[in-house]
Amino acid sequence: MGFSEKLITWYKQNKRDLPWRNTTDPYQIWLSEIILQQTRVDQGLNYFHKFIENYPTVKDLAKASEKDVLNHWQGLGYYSRARNLHFTAKYIVNELNGIFPSAHKDILKLKGVGEYTAAAISSFSYQEPYPVIDGNVYRVLSRIFGIEDPIDSTKGKKIFKELAAELIDIKNPDTYNQAIMEFGALQCTPKKPNCETCPYLLECYAYKNNSVSELPKKEKKIKQRNRYFNYLVIITDDAIYLNERKKKDIWQGLFDFPVLESTEPLSSFTPLNDEFKKLKLSLIRKSEEYKHLLSHQKIYATFWLVSTEKAEKISNSYNKIPLKEINNYPVPKLIENYIKTIL
Ligand code: ADE
Repeated sequence: MGFSEKLITWYKQNKRDLPWRNTTDPYQIWLSEIILQQTRVDQGLNYFHKFIENYPTVKDLAKASEKDVLNHWQGLGYYSRARNLHFTAKYIVNELNGIFPSAHKDILKLKGVGEYTAAAISSFSYQEPYPVIDGNVYRVLSRIFGIEDPIDSTKGKKIFKELAAELIDIKNPDTYNQAIMEFGALQCTPKKPNCETCPYLLECYAYKNNSVSELPKKEKKIKQRNRYFNYLVIITDDAIYLNERKKKDIWQGLFDFPVLESTEPLSSFTPLNDEFKKLKLSLIRKSEEYKHLLSHQKIYATFWLVSTEKAEKISNSYNKIPLKEINNYPVPKLIENYIKTIL
């Protein structure tokens, strides 16, 4: 049995029943793939159902407000994906008569759709033989075929791409693509793969050479930047003040609190007073430090819960909202976690 035949046989015996596998609707497939770039299948399922329930078609998504779309995305992180999703839905409705493009080159032109997503939509919706290459695929191919070239190098990418194009079953590209990702997710996992029951046991390069845990290889270590966010949580009788993040920075379009950023943790409350001196703030409680990891940044957040008797002097660039309405505003996970402690 060849590589793809073995893979598809394995898939038929082991696959999970997932809703986006029972449809060829490109809208649903696109949506599921964008969500799954952000999270694992078990968590992704809830988001997928929520989106399909609220926005059954691309037209419904296009009609929604960005705030609502971000609210439904809340907790998944990397909110530019949600903004691109919304932008593309509007583009399809306004410029393409609401009809999802079917040619691979047109799918690839959609904002937020890269080679991976275009291959997924082309194969799952239109049975076109474009191989998907994601983290699962890199892992499976590097181990079985013994490819040591780094997956983030130009040469490595080219080698994997050529191999993937040779391996895909052109008669069943949809099943093949689902199968290789499923194989990476369930069998050839990053840690503790199930080699003993693997159909490629006898031929797997990494298994034979005892290098399963070393493959795939990566060239670059991601550089991390530390940021310290000192949040001022101003509570008056019945209201709280939110800051809409408009700048080109993380969490664009989401809400947090007035923030003072520093390059080191602040040990005292005083420095915050410079910006907010005239408000005569009194500290109610300083939170513990919250840590939030992003791909290139480590955020350390401290929340200074304060009251003021000079609320009228608070800048009107902040949004004064009734405390009980806070859940209507899309916020980063970190802020959501903090809010739970004060409600
Ligand atoms: N991860 C990314 N795409 C997937 C899919 N279609 N099914 C399962 N897991 C996935």
